[in-house]
Amino acid sequence: MSARFQNKIAVVTGAGSVGPGWGNGRAIAVALVREGAHVVALDISLRSMDETLASARTQATHGGTIESMVCDVTQAASVLAAIEAIVKTHGRIDVLVNNVGGSAKGGPVEMSEEVWDAQVDFNLKSVFLLCKHVLPVMERNGRGAIVNLSSTSGIRWTGAAQVAYAATKAGVIQLGRVVANQYAKKGIRVNTVIPGQLHTPMVETRLALQRSGGDVQALLAQRQARIPLPFMGDGRDTANAVLFLASEEARFITGTELVIDGGMSTRCD
Ligand SMILES: NC(=O)c1ccc[n+]([C@@H]2O[C@H](COP(=O)([O-])OP(=O)(O)OC[C@H]3O[C@@H](n4cnc5c(N)ncnc54)[C@H](O)[C@@H]3O)[C@@H](O)[C@H]2O)c1
Repeated sequence: MSARFQNKIAVVTGAGSVGPGWGNGRAIAVALVREGAHVVALDISLRSMDETLASARTQATHGGTIESMVCDVTQAASVLAAIEAIVKTHGRIDVLVNNVGGSAKGGPVEMSEEVWDAQVDFNLKSVFLLCKHVLPVMERNGRGAIVNLSSTSGIRWTGAAQVAYAATKAGVIQLGRVVANQYAKKGIRVNTVIPGQLHTPMVETRLALQRSGGDVQALLAQRQARIPLPFMGDGRDTANAVLFLASEEARFITGTELVIDGGMSTRCD
């Protein structure tokens, strides 16, 4: 296998997962290590990164390594401290993957103002804060690649009212386009990956309780019914797209989006 990220310093937020298995952040961190990167895995929970570190170290090739660091990406001071520590140790950041995010159910009437605000912080302000502190580091280095995670909920109605999630994930897409233009001449590319309904640990730990009374198989069947391809993707499918966009293979690609949804968002039935 090629080593597209040998000697690169990559920061991945939400590099743990809410449960065992291939969450997006975990899969992205492990894939980067497999292709030679030094990954700084950021998460609010150290414990959630245990499996990430173990998988990454088992699969590491081409000199890939990983370290973990606690960071709450919704808090400016926490983000600043993490980025300062990374720059102090490594001197630069080549790749940033803004992966943290998640949904809360409800439309404007059902959702409390507190939940709305928390969703904005979780899904959108987090991306803003990381960009705020990482862009100057990349600019000093004259190069860099940022990949943000949106969701098909940010471009389509996907079967449940989650107004803040949809609005903030749409915001992530446009934030990426703006920053891509602003920083293109500085050698920094910014793109967005838009995962659809995947089978990630979040399905077992949270979504099934919210959507199908804890019946995981019923929820998976409901999700599969909307997907043209005859199987569900997981975090590894997201990771493949993220690695492509962050790599030199995508050197002429910036300010755009790549949808990873088995064809779901092409339908209108
Ligand atoms: N899972 C899916 O089906 C799916 C679909 C579309 C989009 N996405 C997007 O993919 C991204 C990852 O989702 P996932 O389900 O794979 O993740 P996950 O929920 O399995 O893991 C996310 C990680 O983020 C960490 N985290 C939570 N709050 C944090 C904070 N404030 N600061 C730092 N870390 C924090 C958690 O501890 C956890 O380890 C999200 O942006 C989500 O919206 C997921």
